[in-house]
Amino acid sequence: MPMTSTASSDSQFRTAVVPAAGLGTRFLPATKTVPKELLPVVDTPGIELIAEEATEAGAGRLAIVTSERKVGVMAHFADDPVLEGTLEDRGKDVLLHKVRRAPGLIEVVDVRQEEPLGLGHAVAQVESELGADEQAIAVLLPDDLVLPFGILGQMSDVRAARGGSVLCAFEVDPENVSSYGVFEVEDTDDPAVKKVLGMVEKPAAEDAPSNLAAAGRYVLDRVIFDALRRITPGAGGELQLTDAIDMLIDEGHPVHVVVHDGARHDLGNPGGYIKACVDFALDNPAYADDLREWLAGRLGS
Ligand code: G1P
Repeated sequence: MPMTSTASSDSQFRTAVVPAAGLGTRFLPATKTVPKELLPVVDTPGIELIAEEATEAGAGRLAIVTSERKVGVMAHFADDPVLEGTLEDRGKDVLLHKVRRAPGLIEVVDVRQEEPLGLGHAVAQVESELGADEQAIAVLLPDDLVLPFGILGQMSDVRAARGGSVLCAFEVDPENVSSYGVFEVEDTDDPAVKKVLGMVEKPAAEDAPSNLAAAGRYVLDRVIFDALRRITPGAGGELQLTDAIDMLIDEGHPVHVVVHDGARHDLGNPGGYIKACVDFALDNPAYADDLREWLAGRLGS
């Protein structure tokens, strides 16, 4: 699945929030010392792909929510004069370009989450970093790759047209709904956009209002911070972003979803991560032919 992007119209947000404080338990033992956001999809850390997506959607600043154990994530966006100097001296221009890419993409700010109290709590930490004029934020969960890039631009357009907050939905098999935030929706005049009537975090399959799940992309009105102050622990005993959104819906705040019909990878577990690597490698001329040939042989044997 190519990463081709569509340029977005005027963005509804300046700050894109990337919650990256989690322990990465599904990826142990690798994540004992390496933050999962730094694991490479072919040769590029997932967090750089997320930064690229946010930049293309019009964000000017990435607020990365980290914990003490995860400061390495920020280092990826810092200049490295020693490495860059060595590559320059050796005339390694392609590598130099790769190394300089992340620091040049977007301004990053480190927001600390002192306690792992959930996704809602992580997002709440960013409020004090926002300018008074910022009426909305984007949130990108770095476990989710939503391809091709461009969905945030579409979501921004929906907020511009319909107001409120806009999320991204994708269809999951009904037996898998309990891993996600799940939407109760009704149609709008646009087949790709649904109005959200309610949202529930990780419901049992028999209680799920639909098989439309949240795909880790959010354009949230600033009023979300008010709701985040009022929620209590939900699924898994955590402060859930889903519960704050559901609270706003109950209070009349308009929430819509754009239904994504492209690909999605879950980088947060080895099975999903491997698929993402194969997907990206098959689109990369440096690896595609050799990988295809090897896979054909491996699958045939
Ligand atoms: C989070 C959200 C969930 C969403 C999912 C997408 O869950 O809470 O609503 O559907 O990301 O990946 P997590 O995967 O962090 O448990």
